[in-house]
Amino acid sequence: MSSPPNKSVEIMEDSVIQNIFGESSEEELEFSYHTYKRIENTRENKDVKEIVVRLSQRHSLWAHLPWNAGIALSDYFDEHVDFKNKNVLELGSGAGLPSFIAGLNGAKKVVLTDYPDTNLIENLNYNITNSLPESVTKDRIYGKGHLWGKEPESLFQYLENPSTEKFDIIILSDLIFNHAAHDKMLISCSKCLSDDGVIYVTFSHHRPNRIAKDLAFFEIATEEPYNFTPEKFNERRMCAMFENDLGPEEIRSTVCFYTLKRK
Ligand SMILES: C[S@@+](CC[C@H](N)C(=O)[O-])C[C@H]1O[C@@H](n2cnc3c(N)ncnc32)[C@H](O)[C@@H]1O
Repeated sequence: MSSPPNKSVEIMEDSVIQNIFGESSEEELEFSYHTYKRIENTRENKDVKEIVVRLSQRHSLWAHLPWNAGIALSDYFDEHVDFKNKNVLELGSGAGLPSFIAGLNGAKKVVLTDYPDTNLIENLNYNITNSLPESVTKDRIYGKGHLWGKEPESLFQYLENPSTEKFDIIILSDLIFNHAAHDKMLISCSKCLSDDGVIYVTFSHHRPNRIAKDLAFFEIATEEPYNFTPEKFNERRMCAMFENDLGPEEIRSTVCFYTLKRK
């Protein structure tokens, strides 16, 4: 297996991707399971020591693995971020681990989203039901399809006051390798983020020869109409996800942490 970006997926139009998803609904789905172990010094729901997530092995836009970026961000959230009274949105959730950590640490509402494919969203909801105690998820954690750049109104329905509230924290974990979708991700962020909200962006440079294209995300984010201020605040070395990939392993195995805030 090799790493993203798969160039063909990167440049595909939404309608083409839809066709891929539409083809093989008769076939049996295959799943794998991943056990995420929480850090030692958790602050809330200390009895939940691990989270088991199910991942669909088909119909996947790289949603079939728990990515280093999501694991590293989950660890960081568990130790450092105050989620009390915060509405949290995750784009391209896949396993959705950082969202689950937000839920465990008292977030008001958590909305996990992924590409609006039936199997992906069913699996997202399967994990919401099965990965955490009901006392944590009930009336607080939701799964919903959201195609980046499309109207986000349906995501606000889960908030206590959909007409006045937005999301205080938005999570983008291992998404920016998809260079062609930077603008669309930022449209969703811009429409969904509250005025004083924070976007957490974590990622690895899967292709070290494309670092500049990965980082172009932050240049676009600073420009009109988005006007965000990016800040790099952390780095963490992990094991490389794909040891045989090209380019320095040190770069491929490092997770970079950024925030974006409104100027
Ligand atoms: C590399 S995975 C990252 C998954 C997860 N955030 C993590 O860190 O483990 C990319 C995710 O983006 C989703 N995705 C890809 N294209 C998308 C699109 N146009 N709109 C919404 N989600 C998309 C995929 O289904 C997948 O879940």
